[in-house]
Amino acid sequence: MLDFKNIIAKELANITNIENIEEYIEIPTNKEMGDYSLLCFKLAKEMKKSPQIIASEINEKLNLSEEIILKTEVINGYLNFYINPIIITKTVLEEFETKKETYGSSKVGNGKNIVIDYSSPNIAKPFHVGHLRSTVIGNALYNIYKFLGYNVIGINHLGDYGTQFGKLIEGYKRWGNEYNIEENPIDELTKIYIRINNLCKEDETVLEQCRDNFKKLEDKDEYCTKLWQKFRELSLKEFQRVYDLLDVHFDSLNGEAFYSDKMEEVVSLLEKTGRLVESEGAKVINLDEYNIPPCIIEKTNGSTTYATRDLAAIMYRARTYNFDKCIYVTSYEQILHFKQIFETSKLLGLDKKYTNNLIHVPFGMVQLKTGKMSTREGNIIKLEDLLNEAISRVNRIIEEKNPNLENKEEIAKRVGIGAVIFNDLYNSRIKDEIFDWDTMLNFNGETGPYLQYMYVRTNSVLEKAKEISKISEINIEVLQDNASINLIKEMYMFDNIVKQSAEKNEPYIISRYLINIAQLYSIFYNENRIICEDEEIQNARVYLTYCVNIILKTGAKLLGIQMPEKM
Ligand code: ARG
Repeated sequence: MLDFKNIIAKELANITNIENIEEYIEIPTNKEMGDYSLLCFKLAKEMKKSPQIIASEINEKLNLSEEIILKTEVINGYLNFYINPIIITKTVLEEFETKKETYGSSKVGNGKNIVIDYSSPNIAKPFHVGHLRSTVIGNALYNIYKFLGYNVIGINHLGDYGTQFGKLIEGYKRWGNEYNIEENPIDELTKIYIRINNLCKEDETVLEQCRDNFKKLEDKDEYCTKLWQKFRELSLKEFQRVYDLLDVHFDSLNGEAFYSDKMEEVVSLLEKTGRLVESEGAKVINLDEYNIPPCIIEKTNGSTTYATRDLAAIMYRARTYNFDKCIYVTSYEQILHFKQIFETSKLLGLDKKYTNNLIHVPFGMVQLKTGKMSTREGNIIKLEDLLNEAISRVNRIIEEKNPNLENKEEIAKRVGIGAVIFNDLYNSRIKDEIFDWDTMLNFNGETGPYLQYMYVRTNSVLEKAKEISKISEINIEVLQDNASINLIKEMYMFDNIVKQSAEKNEPYIISRYLINIAQLYSIFYNENRIICEDEEIQNARVYLTYCVNIILKTGAKLLGIQMPEKM
């Protein structure tokens, strides 16, 4: 596809001899200011002239074909470029004809490996709304990188190890037959955990037994391992119901326990550096130089930590996947943890290629509008309940508005889940997410259901049209009204948007873009009759509708949202 920014940059580089000049070209938010703009004030220092003069001088020397650049304009310190709408239209439609569902995809990632560590709930503990964000953001990043040609490895780094398992084993040993953990694993295991914890507080010897169980588990004792396995499997089965609802998959379920026999190496490597020191009985790596607290490698009682397991995981992932980037998606509460392990990992003797490419992708908290959601015990809202509530709310809307709709169940599922996912991905991830049913289910808002509704509208246009012409039969001149051109220009940006969203690990860039496309299509739809007498006009507008249809579907799929075909 023609890269207009690059064409402009090349010409500018010729004139100014500034090689990285592309970095000074921006896409103005105000469309009156052209399609691309050179920010001459950024060149003022280097060129020792005023931005205004730079803009005019470069403008004089420009030699770009009118077929590509319709005109240029100097406004204050900006040199603005206006792309010929005919060439954009042609470029976009031709690209669609060849790429169809892969429009916007790329090969930039070919030959590169990306590890994404996401979701990662803890065994025998509730999978709550906090984990929703990690799962949804991680899954979107997974899809986005794949679309860019990367080889992506999705890892669910399960919290399936640690001293709490010694406690659970003890509780189960004592009262296992009182609880139906097969039926309701997480709830029942949580109850056992609370009960044994209380007992430990009263009776020091019970705590001792728990520690002993964990030690046995580490030593691969048969009984303890079997129980641990049972807890893990039952919990996973319960988590799987959520993953099925969200349609999320992983390539590996290697959780913390997987590294139980891989930590010795970490400890001995760190020991060799001489940097592993005793502090209050624990073994730590001092990180004063980075102004952060030490990374604890071994606790006072000799047991390893969450951090040690993460260090072992870095080594394993480097060796196994030879990653170009390893991304961790968790809430911002773990920012410090990741700083600590990323700095400490530099002492493990790994190639810098690995340790310089560990990336923490933090996100904000979920804020609930209390009283509006059915909760189970206390304030912990289980993800599964929440997703089911989304579905049943949409069910009610369908019953009210369109009770004869075919395939209601599946549609309610797609719309309900889509609404939750979109709400999660609509803002920069570090912002706290506000969870409000009315907002996220508003069919006229900037929401998942709105996108789906617009997609369904394109479907019905295509259905009425019956056929989509070949682009050789389309008269591009017919698509030069403002509404069409604005839409086409936005469509042109898709591949760039996908790349930006990967660069920043920010799915919201795609979410916002899709809303723009939907809104521009809505304007186009309201201003232009699509199905009409004039065959030439109809064919062109139907083709445009077809492109929008594909972009909306592809974009939503990148976010992890499935489109209903009707609603
Ligand atoms: N299990 C952890 C939690 O629920 C998240 C794990 C994130 N991944 C990692 N490699 N530390 O908070």
